[in-house]
Amino acid sequence: MSNQRIIAAQITYEVVFKKQNLSELFKQRLSENLAPEFKSAVKALCYDTIRHYLQLQDRWQQFVKKLPKDKLVRVILSQALAEFYYQQKPEHVVVNEASKVAKKLKKRWACGLINATLRQVLKNKEYKPKDEVAQYEHPQWWIDQLKNDWPVDWQTIMQANNQKPPLWVRSKKPIESAQKHPSIEGAYKIEAQIITSNDDFLSGNLSVQDVSAQLAGHILNPQDNEHILDMCAAPGGKTGHLLELNSNISLDALELYQNRAQKIHENLHRLKLKAKVIVGDGSQSDAWFGGQKYHKILLDAPCSASGIVRRQVDVKFQRKPEDLKAICETQQELLSSAAKLLAIGGRLLYATCSVFKQENSQQIKLFLNSHPEFSEIKLKYPFAMSCEFGIQVITGSQDMDGFYYCYLQKNER
Ligand SMILES: C[S@@+](CC[C@H](N)C(=O)[O-])C[C@H]1O[C@@H](n2cnc3c(N)ncnc32)[C@H](O)[C@@H]1O
Repeated sequence: MSNQRIIAAQITYEVVFKKQNLSELFKQRLSENLAPEFKSAVKALCYDTIRHYLQLQDRWQQFVKKLPKDKLVRVILSQALAEFYYQQKPEHVVVNEASKVAKKLKKRWACGLINATLRQVLKNKEYKPKDEVAQYEHPQWWIDQLKNDWPVDWQTIMQANNQKPPLWVRSKKPIESAQKHPSIEGAYKIEAQIITSNDDFLSGNLSVQDVSAQLAGHILNPQDNEHILDMCAAPGGKTGHLLELNSNISLDALELYQNRAQKIHENLHRLKLKAKVIVGDGSQSDAWFGGQKYHKILLDAPCSASGIVRRQVDVKFQRKPEDLKAICETQQELLSSAAKLLAIGGRLLYATCSVFKQENSQQIKLFLNSHPEFSEIKLKYPFAMSCEFGIQVITGSQDMDGFYYCYLQKNER
């Protein structure tokens, strides 16, 4: 287990202090020949530490006179506390192992500090977070944004963000042992397990997809012979679902990045379904548009991912408030491009896995101001809130990811 702790601490350090991408680090650091249990243990420890980092560091900082300059030492302290509070490891194990990790990482000088600090934290059962960042485990700008956007629900959203995410699948067959979503056909919540070796997954009967994401296919409800564009398609979760709902459509799946487009091919191959996969920029359609306007377009736009931070825990450390401006500009460009590619009478579904209004309802308001030929088709679901435009699934509502949808129709001018 010591080796797992060492790798986990190094990965967490890269995420928290170097803003690196967690899945990329897992790919680089957890080679294929490592045992699955080893990899799962490293991942679990990284997730627990990164998800709660902002509180874990406050817990030990309250017992040190001076913040250790060495950032890896800070991570070792936080990781040890993650094991205690979120993995139920006994106190003596947590303290001893943290010292061992420090020694292996050539931080022998810090063993005394680590030992004494952890013992003090664990002895004191009372904990009072020093501020909102430590209490809610989000950066201050994020907390402020949520308070502003969701004056009633901001705390609920953050509590959900700090939980382990559920595992939702889309299944062609009923799963007796699983919890069926009350209103989304084919959506089941199952116990955590390694799905990729599951027979139903391999044969294409089952796909991993959050229930909020499954809503896209049902809203678009593809009909025979419709020409449909999935404008931001990789890894192809929604592409596959659209074709499962109706394979008698002509579907273009567009993706900006070649390596990500490969994932769409892999997904379609597993599902034994066909789409035309195009590598291109949705906002530069001259380069790839074939000339036949679409009946329906799904624009699952690149976004802050603020609705899925319980899955992508590194987002809390990567995002900066100024990123939102650039993200919103891209979203508006993609919306305008989609508007041109849609046939009269056609429908555009705009989606994000964000809970920030700037990327959602406000984005649609801006779009409608400059595109009067579009009107909204109202959506209504028991698990979603109606916004000025579109609907918002609040993170955690019926254990769903935070997602936004707005359905629009293109009319004659
Ligand atoms: C939210 S993800 C899409 C998830 C996908 N719809 C699914 O359900 O599996 C957004 C995707 O859009 C891609 N993307 C970003 N900018 C794009 C652009 N200008 N044109 C096309 N794709 C883009 C990203 O690389 C990313 O794969």
